[in-house]
Amino acid sequence: MDLGLQGKVVFITGGSKGIGRACGVEFAREGAHVAICARGLEGLREAAKTIEAAGGGRPVFTVAGDMTKWEDARRCVDEAAAHFGGLDVLVNCAGASPGGVLEHLTEDDWALSLQLKFMGYVRCTKAAVPHLLRRGGGRIVNVVGNDGIKPVYWEITASAANAADLAMTSALAEQYGPHGILVNAVNPGPVDTGRWDGLVRAYARDKKLSVEQASAQALRSLPLGRICTPEEVAAVVVFVASARASYMNGAWITLDGGQRKAIMDV
Ligand SMILES: NC(=O)c1ccc[n+]([C@@H]2O[C@H](COP(=O)([O-])OP(=O)(O)OC[C@H]3O[C@@H](n4cnc5c(N)ncnc54)[C@H](OP(=O)(O)O)[C@@H]3O)[C@@H](O)[C@H]2O)c1
Repeated sequence: MDLGLQGKVVFITGGSKGIGRACGVEFAREGAHVAICARGLEGLREAAKTIEAAGGGRPVFTVAGDMTKWEDARRCVDEAAAHFGGLDVLVNCAGASPGGVLEHLTEDDWALSLQLKFMGYVRCTKAAVPHLLRRGGGRIVNVVGNDGIKPVYWEITASAANAADLAMTSALAEQYGPHGILVNAVNPGPVDTGRWDGLVRAYARDKKLSVEQASAQALRSLPLGRICTPEEVAAVVVFVASARASYMNGAWITLDGGQRKAIMDV
């Protein structure tokens, strides 16, 4: 299947690690021009090497910025678009909601989750829309999370930010669909990245379990008996961003292996 991504310009936030980096690799394999942003320069350089190798040596554009700041979000998007002469796809993926239960969560934990996972997505979307409109349309793919629909009390900051991201996805799909910008959300369950390790550690602390016990409990609540890989998420993101997903707008695509209960609920 030709996904029609050859020569398209894709900007990925949180592109230096985990799901964002895996998305970069898949877009590069499809012949897209990839730009990635994150805060850490070293991580960006390492990821760029991997993504460039996947794309047969096609150069990757890296730009450091903090998506909790509007000026950084706008600068990163503008620089990527200027570098490649336009923008076709935005993948919002920079998120880091602290895990834990209500009594352990501080004001700062809540602020970080909402500032990055929700407002970061809002900022990058606002910065990207003028570029997408200049192209006559494009795609925005928000990597959100299934706890936005199946909230979890020990991961409540992420659940709240993700629910807000889903509301934004639906609203903007309606606003920008007539202008050719399709806005969709991909909702993974647990994915095997550094972020998941941190959440399991927070759950183990709150439930007074070992990390191994907490990890085993998570797997028991998943029908497939394993967590998702970043590559499995990237495959869906790339399809949603492709020319073949031309009638998909405002969709919340679940990618949780058939998880029916809240994660850890066994
Ligand atoms: N892993 C899961 O189980 C899972 C499940 C569902 C949804 N998700 C969502 O998927 C997305 C990616 O998660 P992941 O597991 O791939 O995370 P990850 O492996 O921890 O990678 C996070 C990426 O975001 C960047 N980042 C963090 N804070 C940033 C900031 N303030 N500004 C700009 N970039 C920032 C990181 O680089 P720097 O630290 O250098 O900035 C890194 O590139 C997140 O939105 C997450 O909520 C994850």
